[in-house]
Amino acid sequence: ARAQYHEFVIKEAAVTRLCRKHSIMTVNGQFPGPAVEMSEGDSLIVRVINRGSYNVTVHWHGVRQMRTGWSDGPEYVTQCPIRPGRSYTYRFTVAGQEGTLWWHAHSSWLRATVHGALVVRPRAGVSAYPFNAGKPPAREIPILLGEWWDMNPIDVVRTATRTGAAPNISDALTVNGQPGDLYKCSSKDTATFPVKSGETNLLRFINAALNTELFVSLAGHTMTVVGADASYTKPYSTSVLMIAPGQTTDVLVTFDQPPGRYYLAARAYASAQGVPFDNSTTTAIFDYGATSSSRSSPAMPTLPAYNDTATATTFTTSLRGLRKAEMPSRVDENLFFTVGVGLFNCSRGAQSCGGPNNTRFAASINNVSFVLPSTVSILQAHYGGAQGVFTADFPANPPLQFDYTAQNVSRALWQPVPGTKVYRLKYGAAVQLVLQGTNIFAAENHPIHIHGYDFYILAEGFGNFNAATDTAKFNLDDPPMRNTVGVPVNGWAVIRFVADNPGVWLMHCHLDVHITWGLAMAFLVEDGVGELQSLEAPPPDLPLC
Ligand code: C2O
Repeated sequence: ARAQYHEFVIKEAAVTRLCRKHSIMTVNGQFPGPAVEMSEGDSLIVRVINRGSYNVTVHWHGVRQMRTGWSDGPEYVTQCPIRPGRSYTYRFTVAGQEGTLWWHAHSSWLRATVHGALVVRPRAGVSAYPFNAGKPPAREIPILLGEWWDMNPIDVVRTATRTGAAPNISDALTVNGQPGDLYKCSSKDTATFPVKSGETNLLRFINAALNTELFVSLAGHTMTVVGADASYTKPYSTSVLMIAPGQTTDVLVTFDQPPGRYYLAARAYASAQGVPFDNSTTTAIFDYGATSSSRSSPAMPTLPAYNDTATATTFTTSLRGLRKAEMPSRVDENLFFTVGVGLFNCSRGAQSCGGPNNTRFAASINNVSFVLPSTVSILQAHYGGAQGVFTADFPANPPLQFDYTAQNVSRALWQPVPGTKVYRLKYGAAVQLVLQGTNIFAAENHPIHIHGYDFYILAEGFGNFNAATDTAKFNLDDPPMRNTVGVPVNGWAVIRFVADNPGVWLMHCHLDVHITWGLAMAFLVEDGVGELQSLEAPPPDLPLC
């Protein structure tokens, strides 16, 4: 295992998209940012130098960060932000995880442009790809799906926070930072991947979009999923992927069609009915034309309709872990969390109420709308014993019982309460968590991400979770392991993990608009007995607020 050193300089760079010049925040002037490639077991030392004009942090999405919570990155949760002119060095090891992860800014909406791939390959002589006869595929292609705004994304979210209304939807979806040739002024910059006839390549998809779940298809080609969120899956062949923000999906594709050009296309899966969304399609081109005869229009794949929940759910529930699950049969903590979007009454706070019927949008877990501290991170407060920063009374169950899928639940009955609350877990506790979607303002598929952990997804379903009947549906044999689970629209998902990583770990919806509205909470995992079970001491350069 080796250690790699990188320098990430956060700075502005000029780019042109959709006919207009913009100055955007980047890492090292690149958009998308640099791909970090490593082998399992390697360590990363990344010095982030902030030469931009905003506070920033970098999160290593999906990296377990065993005992290195100081390097996890969410601002005000594990560290104070790196202020302009300052730097901070992230140090961690990626062990026991192989596949595709990514890194992104975890401050405001900076991750719209500050993100990149984190590729973890098997360690030579120790492990091998569990496909392609153990050999590396001919090519491995990281593909970042994203979203582009025709204005500064920081201003988009600031405006929404000020008015209480929903933020502007994005102006384009992108592949590797490019909208593609169906958008104005974008044709010549369409992402193009030259491939070779007969070869099998590994495509490493990352959904880096802020607020859009995506259907992805490649014209004329079958995709075989072999991994998701840096955990291997049993091979699953399909013509369409559904990838939610935060999730990654590794697929093998054999270029066995008549040589030519084929569109890769992605379009929104918009599960919240009636809510405005970007209905456009982003394209990239896979080119194994070689000759001039192939300059005709590429073939276009058929994508599901934006509201095709059946296809989205078929995809996610078809994934199975490659190996038998390793988890304790006991459950020490049986948690039931509701996740959803609601509304604050106008009287709550002096800011204007631009939401529906004089409200402000608010989102919550178990009716608690998460509020970040501002003077110190939760992890620093926990480590140093500072009082008054957070409370440890996050509820294990929702405060009220009602039909979570019902339309038009009275807002008086269910009004989120703002708070900085954590749920305490004992080191080593076996946790089962039911995530139940609500439908107070609108129901939606929520991609729920937990920092510092991978978890098994035992089951998902529609309607209200019913412990008496749904427990029988749990897959305890080969459930997929992920770091982000899509809780189906008007439905539920059940996950399990062992709290073997001490620290403070954010759990949130990976639709950034929902984090903005408070759809987050944090687990505080206590130290265990012995040095290998406790959080390391904070690094000397940890930023102060
Ligand atoms: Cu990729 Cu807290 O997020």
